[in-house]
Amino acid sequence: MMEEAATVSKGLEDVYIKTTKLTTIDGNKGILRYRGYDINDISEHGTFEEVIHLMVYGELPNKEQLKALRDSLKSHYALDKGIMEVISKLPKDGEPLGMLEVAFSMLAMKEKNYKWEPKADREKAIDIIAKAVTIIANIYRVKEGLPVKEPVIKEGYAETFMATCFDKPVSKEVISSMDKALILYTDHEVPASTTASLVVASTLSDMASSVVAGIAALKGPLHGGAAETAFKQFEDIGSVENVEQWFKHNVIENNAKLMGFGHRVYKTMDPRAKIFKRYAEMFAKDNPKVDKYFQIAKKLEELGVQKFGNKGIYPNTDFYSGIVYYAMGFPTYMPTPLFALSRTTGWLSHIMEYVEEQQRIIRPRAIYVGIQERKYVPIDQRH
Ligand code: CMC
Repeated sequence: MMEEAATVSKGLEDVYIKTTKLTTIDGNKGILRYRGYDINDISEHGTFEEVIHLMVYGELPNKEQLKALRDSLKSHYALDKGIMEVISKLPKDGEPLGMLEVAFSMLAMKEKNYKWEPKADREKAIDIIAKAVTIIANIYRVKEGLPVKEPVIKEGYAETFMATCFDKPVSKEVISSMDKALILYTDHEVPASTTASLVVASTLSDMASSVVAGIAALKGPLHGGAAETAFKQFEDIGSVENVEQWFKHNVIENNAKLMGFGHRVYKTMDPRAKIFKRYAEMFAKDNPKVDKYFQIAKKLEELGVQKFGNKGIYPNTDFYSGIVYYAMGFPTYMPTPLFALSRTTGWLSHIMEYVEEQQRIIRPRAIYVGIQERKYVPIDQRH
């Protein structure tokens, strides 16, 4: 029987499951840092490969280390024939995160008795991070009715991804924005998806299976799924003139949640949302279709902050990111798969940190509140 004093922390709020040197968030001041580097600084000056190095190996790379990492990624982008074949047979109308689960599960299928060991873990992490490019690019291609394609290996991670997705050249501006978006979504301490990955890794399962758990948790509309629903909200509104009426009807009168707003940790505007807003504005300047969504989002932000700001509910990273991805040429189902592409590095960095330094199986308790004890009744005697 449970101790009388036991209480449930609903949603595990304020429960700390590990220590970390990876990411810190100051939710009141709106600060996010990766290993001490402010998100504004690192996303403005760094590349995603540098961030991968920082998270996986602990420090920003020097030139030789960066070249070695890029070479290593290049040697791991390709997928086995069997995985490419399975991806090619996935249904065009499949739900993309479910499709990601299938493809990443095929990486897990190769893992039997995985031995956790720092050097092998890092090699495995780089392998999975590289393969994520080819998996996600090809899931995009399948959904667009295009044939699957071997990775088009370029110098950078973002460029390789874009060249694998698209069959026509992608501008430097778009590749650079993709690189920044990857940095912005890399890690965020221990949200639901990272926690799901940690639970799996804590059993000493393998790294690919832990990523599958992360993807499964990311899919939900309260977490990564919000990146897509936030954008669909703007599509639903349709024009800036409709924002007030839409907000009144849905949010005020029918208590709908504003997607892309609110956060368990931030009680002010998410610093990533501010950066994505700047990118959205940049793309809106010379693209009227993007500008339409940007104007809708700005107006919705204004109304949302007026209504919810005093409760500490502000735009989160998913509010403007969908507009940026739309401007880059991605369809509306892509924001969440793109979130997964980036967050794979965060999940893997956290599970390595946990298993290597703090490993213990994550096994919480539940307080039993059901009937204490009763006798089995045969089925023909039940009413
Ligand atoms: N719109 C309207 N009200 C909200 C919102 C919102 N987006 N978010 C929270 N609230 C209200 C909620 O109704 C509750 O009100 P009351 O105290 O009157 O019952 C209060 O704020 C606390 O909300 P909560 O759901 O208990 O907060 P939480 O910390 O458990 O949830 C959250 C955080 C992100 C799930 C929630 O804010 C939410 O559902 N937001 C919308 C979905 C979203 O944008 N998710 C992306 C999160 S950030 C990036 C990511 O992880 O993907």
